[in-house]
Amino acid sequence: MLSESMETAINGQINKEIFSSYLYMAMGMYFEAEDLSGAASWMRTQALEEMTHAEKFMNFVNERGGRVTLQAIAKPAFAWDSPHAAFTAALEHERFISASINDLVASARKDNDYMSDNFLQWFVGEQVEEEASVSEVIRMFKLAGTSGGGLLMIDRELGSRVFTPPAAE
Ligand code: FEO
Repeated sequence: MLSESMETAINGQINKEIFSSYLYMAMGMYFEAEDLSGAASWMRTQALEEMTHAEKFMNFVNERGGRVTLQAIAKPAFAWDSPHAAFTAALEHERFISASINDLVASARKDNDYMSDNFLQWFVGEQVEEEASVSEVIRMFKLAGTSGGGLLMIDRELGSRVFTPPAAE
């Protein structure tokens, strides 16, 4: 049985994951408006992935006899100064999510809740990948500068990302 405090904390994380999806969808729409369809597709794929993170947490709460209580999703930003700025904001957001996952692990360990700790380790690993993949895109934008040709090349590369749902529990 999930403790009340862990149930509350994971419900908060579910909200953050759904907000992440909403934020990346907003970034996807920004890139659509900028005619960067590859970057838009990358962000829309990321938005789908974030929903699978929320689902993973929801399934865990249900399996442990807890109750999922969905909360209001905050309004995300809708425009950024440049593609580089949008991905930099994405990296900042992922760092915030990583810190939030770390806090959950710390609470689980403080309460000797090893089931939650074990479950959360998947997200610890996932956050390493999330931060690395966004950092890689930022690096590409930095190298390409603001030239049309460079942007086009990166956009094509970003458009090749495909959505792979995580393995079922
Ligand atoms: Fe679900 Fe991008 O963290």
